[in-house]
Amino acid sequence: MILELAAIPENVGVARLMAAVVAAQGEFTVAEVDEVKLAVSEAVTNAIVHGYRCDGSRMVRMEAALEDGELVIVVIDHGRGIEDVAMAMQPAVTTDPERMGLGFSFMEAHMDHVEVTSQVGQGTRVVMRKRPAARDVASLKGS
Ligand SMILES: Nc1ncnc2c1ncn2[C@@H]1O[C@H](COP(=O)(O)OP(=O)(O)OP(=O)(O)O)[C@@H](O)[C@H]1O
Ligand SMILES: [Mg+2]
Repeated sequence: MILELAAIPENVGVARLMAAVVAAQGEFTVAEVDEVKLAVSEAVTNAIVHGYRCDGSRMVRMEAALEDGELVIVVIDHGRGIEDVAMAMQPAVTTDPERMGLGFSFMEAHMDHVEVTSQVGQGTRVVMRKRPAARDVASLKGS
């Protein structure tokens, strides 16, 4: 699934829904799908708010796929970019005093793996991966 969204906050809900639709095709529990929705909200909000400063003429791209049972979600913007990714991913680090700086922490808490690449002036790419927990148990039993 590939989705292109204008960079307005209203579109965060669209991204959440579409990610949930793809996740629901996998072996995720309702609680796990909720975690996916939360992580996607944070990544897409960041692209809209920080990457594009809510410039609705710019587009955020989201890709979602199930790869051998694993959900892979990619959120891409070609906006401002992040100077120091490792620093930005620390809890409570934000460039906006109105915010909490917890978006990346939530993504890492709710997904198995989060990878961020970014270049100032070029944009940001966030890759998030999650496997259904129940599936892991099943594969352990089978081995
Ligand atoms: N797509 C992006 N483009 C540019 N900067 C980004 C992007 N995503 C994150 N950042 C930078 O990384 C910082 C940390 O992001 P994070 O989501 O953890 O916190 P926040 O967005 O500031 O606050 P919160 O998510 O709690 O509302 C942001 O303040 C911003 O400076
Ligand atoms: Mg954020």
